[in-house]
Amino acid sequence: MIGIIGGTGLSEPSFLDSVQTRKIMTPYAESPVQILTGVLRGVQVAFLPRHGKGHKVPPHRVNYRANIWALYNIGVRALIGVNAVGGIHPETGPGRIAIPAQIIDYTWGREHTFFSDGLDSVTHIDFTAPYDETLRQLLIRSADDVPVWNGGVYACTQGPRLETAAEVERLRRDGGDMIGMTGMPEAALARELGIAYACIALSVNWAAGLSDDIITMEAIGKVLEQGMGTVLAVIERAVQQYATL
Ligand code: HPA
Repeated sequence: MIGIIGGTGLSEPSFLDSVQTRKIMTPYAESPVQILTGVLRGVQVAFLPRHGKGHKVPPHRVNYRANIWALYNIGVRALIGVNAVGGIHPETGPGRIAIPAQIIDYTWGREHTFFSDGLDSVTHIDFTAPYDETLRQLLIRSADDVPVWNGGVYACTQGPRLETAAEVERLRRDGGDMIGMTGMPEAALARELGIAYACIALSVNWAAGLSDDIITMEAIGKVLEQGMGTVLAVIERAVQQYATL
């Protein structure tokens, strides 16, 4: 089954039909992970809002391990992560969509691996290409008439505060093209379990210091509202194509 992890701006399953709630216990949390299953254009999908019901869990508090483990356990083997980002690269202005190809991880203190305790042997996954290329290409083909940037480096910061202008300048020098707070460790955990994972990133602001405007939640909300419909249109087509693979 294909799964969708919704980020900021995509926390309601209103795009699905026949929605059911599954509560999945995991070794990583006391309470169950709530996954919504439903039908999207005739295809059964799983949907998990990353920040929980009502968008209350901040990026550094998301239980990424429990989420990915629960999705795997109900049979998810391909996963689209939806992420709101701040744009650095000229192709990533507010409203633009990107399918990033690479990640740099600046997060800290997050439970970031399934391979910690009780191991038969130490395990190092290959993460040279952090996103599944087949799923990336599927998303790019599904963009259709929507201009989508194929590529770019997703720089994952700890949050929840936004960056300083100097931090953004450093991220740019490092090769970062867009900044988000939730791409990691999600992508690595999916790889650890063998789930094909790709990201669809919606830019909701220019990163700090790159425009004269200060970044407000209100302005971000407006771009999210306008852009998320387009993101969903791409995902709908991707899900349909996935079903025919
Ligand atoms: N920085 C980090 N994460 C973000 C941003 C940003 O500017 N915009 C949306 N998510």
